[in-house]
Amino acid sequence: MSSGKTKNNVLIVSVLVTLFCIYNFIIYTSKDRAQPIMLSTEAIQGQQLWQKNNCWACHQTYGLGGYLGPDLTNVFSAPNKGPAYIKAFLNSGVKSMPKFNFTEDEKEALVIFLKYLDSTGYYPNYKADFKPTGWVELKYKNED
Ligand code: HEC
Repeated sequence: MSSGKTKNNVLIVSVLVTLFCIYNFIIYTSKDRAQPIMLSTEAIQGQQLWQKNNCWACHQTYGLGGYLGPDLTNVFSAPNKGPAYIKAFLNSGVKSMPKFNFTEDEKEALVIFLKYLDSTGYYPNYKADFKPTGWVELKYKNED
């Protein structure tokens, strides 16, 4: 009697494991997975500088982070801002932003990191389309 139960359990577990394998195969081989954005070596250096110097303590990306300074998601492409504007802030110590001591290469790396960040989307996303069903369709940067 108990060996019948064990057999059943083995059967159920084998079916579940097989389904799990099929599911994973489909997920990991399907072509329409979103392609990850690959960071260049310079952008990675910028990202590391961003983390090491705690930019997130005061700045947000996509609305998340500290609130002492402004959100930097789209500072790269914002009107009247961009690379020179970003660099101007880094070593000058305006208001409560610390005066950093970045080299020209480090400033460039941070700009390239912020350029990649900017290419991932909008924040806040005013290009969202609210459907009557409650579905929200977002427009992404690469769709314009
Ligand atoms: C202690 C808080 C603090 C830290 C840490 C900090 N910032 Fe700032 N940052 C500020 C504040 C406050 C402002 C707004 C200054 C102003 O408007 O005059 C600012 C402004 C900026 C601006 C201009 C943004 C805009 O839209 O006008 C950029 C770019 C910037 N910071 C980049 C950085 C980067 C990159 C780092 C990390 C290396 C960093 N900040 C770390 C406080 C901080």
